[in-house]
Amino acid sequence: MGLKVALACDHAGFSLKEAIKAFLSAGEAVPGAEVTDLGTFSDAPVDYPDTGVLAAEGVARGRFDRAVLVCGTGIGMCMVANKVPGVRAALCHDEFSARASRQHNDANVLTLGARVVGAGLALEVVRAWLATGFEGGRHARRLEKLRRIEERYAREAGKENPGGREDGGGGR
Ligand code: RB5
Repeated sequence: MGLKVALACDHAGFSLKEAIKAFLSAGEAVPGAEVTDLGTFSDAPVDYPDTGVLAAEGVARGRFDRAVLVCGTGIGMCMVANKVPGVRAALCHDEFSARASRQHNDANVLTLGARVVGAGLALEVVRAWLATGFEGGRHARRLEKLRRIEERYAREAGKENPGGREDGGGGR
């Protein structure tokens, strides 16, 4: 079975997301990638957290192996994705960083800024990112430290908000 890749974008990333979808669907990046497009589906304004979180949660829950998220700068998408525990999102606009984010950080989400890079470079970044594996070893120890930080904050949040409600509860 091919790599399951989710795509998501906001209005600023719409046309680059479409180009990435065509590239992946044609098997140009990795053979047999299974692509799921979570929107947005036009260049009408939308808020990047709304689409970005769908893809990030899909990766965290194991529905997708990886996700590629596109907004104007790639920054908002990187921020929202990294709020989801288990996600390691990397904003990469060059192939070296894209490869390193896989080899060293085991990044499971790539974010791109459609207003920063041209489509030609963005597609090469996507290709390099999808084709590169995690090196493990000393890098695994560092990722374990990241995981423990997430765990600590989750424990603390659980103490403050035992019901687990996002609004902190207290409403009538
Ligand atoms: C939308 O104008 C823009 O702010 C958004 O695409 C992104 O760049 C945010 O980080």
